Amino acid sequence: MSATVVIGTQWGDEGKGKIVDYLAEKADVVVRYQGGNNAGHTVVVDGQEFKLHLLPSGMLYSGKICVVGNGVVVDPQVMLQEIKAMQKKGIDTSGLRLSNRAHLIMPYHRLLDEVEEESRGDHKIGTTKRGIGPCYMDKNARCGIRVCDLLEPEEFSEKLARNLEAKNHLLKAVYGVEGFDFETVKKEYLEYAQQLRPYIADTSAILNDNIKAGKKVLFEGAQATLLDLDHGTYPYVTSSHPIAGGACIGAGIGPTKISKVVGVVKAYSTRVGEGPFPTELHDEVGNHIREEGHEYGTTTGRPRRCGWLDGCIVRYAGYVSGIDYMAITRLDILDKLPKIKLCVAYKYNGQIINEYPASLNVMSKVEPVYEELPGWQEPTTHIRAYQDLPLNARRYIERLSEVSGIAIGMVSVGPGREQTIILADMF
Ligand code: IMP
Repeated sequence: MSATVVIGTQWGDEGKGKIVDYLAEKADVVVRYQGGNNAGHTVVVDGQEFKLHLLPSGMLYSGKICVVGNGVVVDPQVMLQEIKAMQKKGIDTSGLRLSNRAHLIMPYHRLLDEVEEESRGDHKIGTTKRGIGPCYMDKNARCGIRVCDLLEPEEFSEKLARNLEAKNHLLKAVYGVEGFDFETVKKEYLEYAQQLRPYIADTSAILNDNIKAGKKVLFEGAQATLLDLDHGTYPYVTSSHPIAGGACIGAGIGPTKISKVVGVVKAYSTRVGEGPFPTELHDEVGNHIREEGHEYGTTTGRPRRCGWLDGCIVRYAGYVSGIDYMAITRLDILDKLPKIKLCVAYKYNGQIINEYPASLNVMSKVEPVYEELPGWQEPTTHIRAYQDLPLNARRYIERLSEVSGIAIGMVSVGPGREQTIILADMF
């Protein structure tokens, strides 16, 4: 049995796409289990850049089964666009399987995401406005429309009619905007149904069969620990469960089937959207990291907030997901810095705290306790063996491993598949 879950340990954008892509080569099955097209993975293959929002990164290899699990919220328009874009570039999409239990993002979800976000004023979450939150709200309110409904036009029409009645009223009465026409939405979605039909399946059954048959299954987390609905910086979070446990619910497998958890750690911190960020930098170093790392959102193009690496967060992510190995990414972005800081604890009201506080009020007031380490000031992008990394780069990584209590499994020194240093077997 070999099922590995890859998750983000920070606020997303850690470079999971590259790590997943690397591991996908060895996997037989690659699975998305939560989130939707709020995610954005950039993968570079032979100099060709691919931006994926909804489809698993494993799609870039032929012969893999790629699953979009029941825990994912699916915008069919986006899914079809991604399928067609891949086909255009000569990529075989026949291995794609879409869960019949996944919920559909509807046009009213996208509009509600926009108007609800606007109405929050100073309390806005900074959502991607892709309809993710409103779709999960309907799922939990038990009025959502699922992929299996697309295959039953009468069932679909009935659910759409009920939803439109409620949503159009809400949009008009509370937000003062026009809703949607039943026939137009119905026609649009039933057309999507025809195009998606070949991919729709009971993916939980497929996954369990594959695990039983000893195949290598890779679960690809989207977003990250601090955006988890339960374990993140609530309410500045997404509406799903990016932590490793989310894979069980979002894919329909038991916890006993997971053999390894890999936590992706970017060598510094970034965040998009609102919410506290103790190690955020508002100075030249922050700007340097943003420009060197091209830290602008894949999905929205927004400039990301940048800061030093927070070891407390990595430690926290380690225990909420039971991380076995860290995959450290983008080490090369720090190559030019003379000094590097690592947050090892927080100070609050004169007291040292080691745990990540639940209260955002406390969180916004904590002061990071930093250890300052010397930089290495030499390029690392060509390095392929751990021992060849500059001593100060190894010291930085090893100190993070001590602070977080997590072993180092991989180090990435550039976007290419070959720019990867492997220290442990991830399957
Ligand atoms: P939503 O997922 O669109 O509802 O947005 C909720 C929060 O999660 C916002 O702060 C977003 O910026 C953030 N978010 C959602 N997806 C990602 C991602 O893939 N990377 C980083 N942040 C994300």
